[in-house]
Amino acid sequence: MDKLKVFGKADLKGYINIPGAKNAALPIMASSILSTHSLYLTNVPNLIDIKTMHKLLESLGLEINLFENSISLIAKNISNHIADYNLVRKMRASVLVLGPLLSRLRKVKISLPGGCAIGTRPIDLHLFGLKKLGASFYIDEGYIIGNLKDKFKGTTIKFPSVSVGATENVIMAASLAEGKTTIINAAKEPEIQDLINCLNKMGAKISITKNSIIEIEGVSELNKAEHSIISDRIVAGTYVIAAIMLNKDFIVQNINSKYLKTPIKILKKMGANLDVGNHYIKIKPSKLIKGTIIKTEPYPGFPTDLQAQMMALMSIADGKSEIKEKIFENRFMHVPELNRLGTDIIVNNDTATINGNRIFKSANVMASDLRASVSLVLAGLCGQGITTINRVYHLDRGYENIEKTLGKCGPKILRLK
Ligand code: UD1
Repeated sequence: MDKLKVFGKADLKGYINIPGAKNAALPIMASSILSTHSLYLTNVPNLIDIKTMHKLLESLGLEINLFENSISLIAKNISNHIADYNLVRKMRASVLVLGPLLSRLRKVKISLPGGCAIGTRPIDLHLFGLKKLGASFYIDEGYIIGNLKDKFKGTTIKFPSVSVGATENVIMAASLAEGKTTIINAAKEPEIQDLINCLNKMGAKISITKNSIIEIEGVSELNKAEHSIISDRIVAGTYVIAAIMLNKDFIVQNINSKYLKTPIKILKKMGANLDVGNHYIKIKPSKLIKGTIIKTEPYPGFPTDLQAQMMALMSIADGKSEIKEKIFENRFMHVPELNRLGTDIIVNNDTATINGNRIFKSANVMASDLRASVSLVLAGLCGQGITTINRVYHLDRGYENIEKTLGKCGPKILRLK
């Protein structure tokens, strides 16, 4: 597996254009199963997870053309209802074909998902929502087998807890259901709004009420559409944190800064010098970055996907910080690796205490999940020597060619095959 050698005391200058959001592109690609007409997507990021979804959809019978940053998908004929273990184990988001396949074929067989090893990550909420719409499921030899007697039937679904993926599966399934579906306690992530926007362009009738209830009026079919994927708020946040850590003048652009309100507020409170426009964030050197206390929460709270990067920043901030991880129970796997690089972080259940004022040293570290990997890159860039990051497979699932993307702006990162 590839390794990265990250050279410390990195320079950083100029600007970076943020690509489309993986977490918006994946459900939107899955939604193409719902229509027999073409769906053309632009601003699609060039990532391993996108290629995995491409292969999965192709294995189901979709005709797909992938260009550098766009993709066309046509689900004229779906010849297969089985999502194979070898694809699903690589990416948890494969479970997003569950609702669309049931809607289209009334049957589905999908391997239990894999992806980042952050907690147990069950799929009970996906099954809960789809069962309410009329599907039935059983598990056999590691596969979930789902059936639907007739069409999905609209109803009210109140999720016991918030799930991004389960909300997306229900939205897609309900788009072609008979009657109206109301989702209470739905996730409100910007990527869900993007899925809704795309489905509405395809002819779906989905709206979000003032008190965040999602209402879906089922339609009989979906049509041809074109859609540009929203930019990736997590990648944007990662590079903003990188510039703060390196204390450089830098511009992160092609973003929707409104989707980063909470992280921006916290970073400013810590002392970061940020000039925020609608579509850019200019980072300027700051006098002092102070420690703080945060907790991860569903949107619009602080995103769990920026937790590891924030922890790297807190390690060099002045004073003590604390992070409560409220979304995933096991999302602190980067802590032992950061500690190998010289941080002083103590984990107690869902809370990490970060003693600041540390200096990153060089070491050999292991990337465990997607965002954990990038926190090690940030630490390495700020470090004193050369940091070797092993098993960067997960990093490539969420960051486009990081050695080139960042390399253009000054940092030296080498990939070893
Ligand atoms: C999505 C994102 C991921 C992000 C996460 C939380 C994609 C492709 N991935 O993941 O990057 O970290 O949202 O913002 O968009 N849960 C259950 N039962 C279920 C489903 C989830 O208990 O059926 C739990 C999970 O274990 C977790 C919490 O609910 O503790 C939130 O997970 P969820 O919002 O579903 O995350 P994903 O959709 O998998």
